[in-house]
Amino acid sequence: MVPGGARVEHVPGVERVWRFDDIDSTNTFARTLAPVPPSGMLVVTTRRQRAGRGQRGNAFYSDSENGLWLSVVVRPESLGQHFAINRALALGACDVCGDGARIKWPNDIYIGERKAGGILLETSEADAGCIVAGIGLNVNSGPEEFPKDVRTIATSLLMEQGARRDIEAVLCGVVSAFERWRHESEALAHARYERRLMGIGRQAVIGEWSGEYRGVGSDGRAVIAREGEARYFWSGPLRFCATDNGR
Ligand code: BTN
Repeated sequence: MVPGGARVEHVPGVERVWRFDDIDSTNTFARTLAPVPPSGMLVVTTRRQRAGRGQRGNAFYSDSENGLWLSVVVRPESLGQHFAINRALALGACDVCGDGARIKWPNDIYIGERKAGGILLETSEADAGCIVAGIGLNVNSGPEEFPKDVRTIATSLLMEQGARRDIEAVLCGVVSAFERWRHESEALAHARYERRLMGIGRQAVIGEWSGEYRGVGSDGRAVIAREGEARYFWSGPLRFCATDNGR
C-alpha cells in the first residue's frame, strides 16, 4: 500500500476486492465469482501467482512480488464488447506505463521492443454474462528474475525507467484508467488505441499471410495488406518481420 495513499477499494467503480498473498491464478479465481453487479467491477489481486496463465494456454511467469497481477470481472451490456474491454484495459495499462508504452495487438503491452505485460480475457464460469479481464505487468522485476526462455524479450517498468514503483499505486492507476476508458466514447477510445498500437506500417505475418500491418479496426480485427488485398484477423499472434530495416 502507498503510505497515506490510495487503495484500490476506493477507486470509482470498484464494488469489491479480493486480495491474496499467494494464489494459483487470479483469473481462475475470478471466473468463479458471482453475482457481479451490472455496473462496477470486482477486483482480484495477489502478491504472487503460482500458476499464472497466458494466451494460447501458455504459462505466464508471475511467481514474484515485483509485478501487478490483477483480474477484473465486469458485466458488459453484451459479450460483443469483448474487444472494447480488452482495449480499455490495454489503454489503462499504457496510461500507467507512460508515453513509451505500446500495444502489440492483440494482448501485449510493450515498451520498446520488449514485452512488459500481457492481457488474458476469459468468460466467467459462474456468470455467463460476465467477462474476466486479467493483466500481468512487470513492475519492479530485474532481468535475472525472468525465466531463461523469455529473458531476452521481457522487460519491466524498473528496467525501462530506472525507478521502482509502488505496486498498489500501479494497481489503482490501472483500475481507474480502465474504468475511464471503458466508459469513454467508442471514437475517442479507438483513436487513442490506434495511437498506442505498435508497428503500424511494418511488414508482418499472421498465420500464413504476410504484408503491411495496417492496424486494427474498431471491431478488434487486425488488417494486413499485400498487393492490393487486405485480410482481416480476429486473433494473433502477430509477428513482425525481421527484415524491416530494424524498425
Ligand atoms: C499473456 O501475456 O499471454 C497474457 C498474460 C495474462 C496474465 C494475467 S496475470 C493476472 C491474470 N491471472 C492469470 O492467470 N493470467 C492473467
